[in-house]
Amino acid sequence: MRKKLVVGNWKLHGSLVENEKLLDEIATQLKDLRNIDCGVCLPYPYLFQAQRKLANTSILWGAQNVSQFLAGAYTSSVSAKMIADFGCSFAIVGHSERRSYSHESNQKAVIRIKRAVDAGITPIYCVGETLAEYGLGQTKKIIEAQILAIFGLDAITLSRAKAVGLVVAYEPVWAIGTGHAAQPAQAQMVHHFIRALIAQHDADFAEKVRIIYGGSLTPVNACSLLIMPDIDGGLVGHSALNALTFKAICEMAAHTHELCEGISCD
Ligand code: 13P
Repeated sequence: MRKKLVVGNWKLHGSLVENEKLLDEIATQLKDLRNIDCGVCLPYPYLFQAQRKLANTSILWGAQNVSQFLAGAYTSSVSAKMIADFGCSFAIVGHSERRSYSHESNQKAVIRIKRAVDAGITPIYCVGETLAEYGLGQTKKIIEAQILAIFGLDAITLSRAKAVGLVVAYEPVWAIGTGHAAQPAQAQMVHHFIRALIAQHDADFAEKVRIIYGGSLTPVNACSLLIMPDIDGGLVGHSALNALTFKAICEMAAHTHELCEGISCD
């Protein structure tokens, strides 16, 4: 049984003052949740603040990216070792906003995966098709290329990726920030497809890997998605900026079967 994971991606939001309040609220709201891993990924400058606020809580924290470089003359880059210094458990890698605004390719994303796992950080590797690709029926083709890129990594890195519990986030680009989440059956189909692709290389990894869903996840649609057998949690944007909506999603993930039984899957 895979433990559910819900991670908030704060994107380009927050300030020292706002974070102080939101981190306190999240720590308070989530303190009694069991059988689930919850975390927040903040902008780099606030990782120290997250470490200070969350160190004695069950809430994990992470970065929204990590450099493909180890060290050197790479202005503005932040290395895996640096984010590890701030106690990060996670680094998001290959988010579609990075892919589209910063032209991050699958190849660069997997180097970032390598940097993260070498530093003991769990990468949350984002995959997903654009609206145009979805419209052309290319979802599986795009996802396949994104997932198979992982298996171009060397054997030592792959075994480290397994050891740190690499997470895959299926985030259909057309669902991000649009208010139109994927239909549960459609998301389940893609999650199952991802697991089957991983199983072709490593059946044990496929069984253990957490594949979480992201894209307009809210307390209203979370149950119907989180109850799907291959959806192991969520990567939450907008709804993670409010402690109550974030808590509601985490709670549904932690108690899917009690809270979500009988919820329509259509
Ligand atoms: P929204 O939940 O705001 O759609 O964002 C999803 C996302 O991109 C998480 O990484």
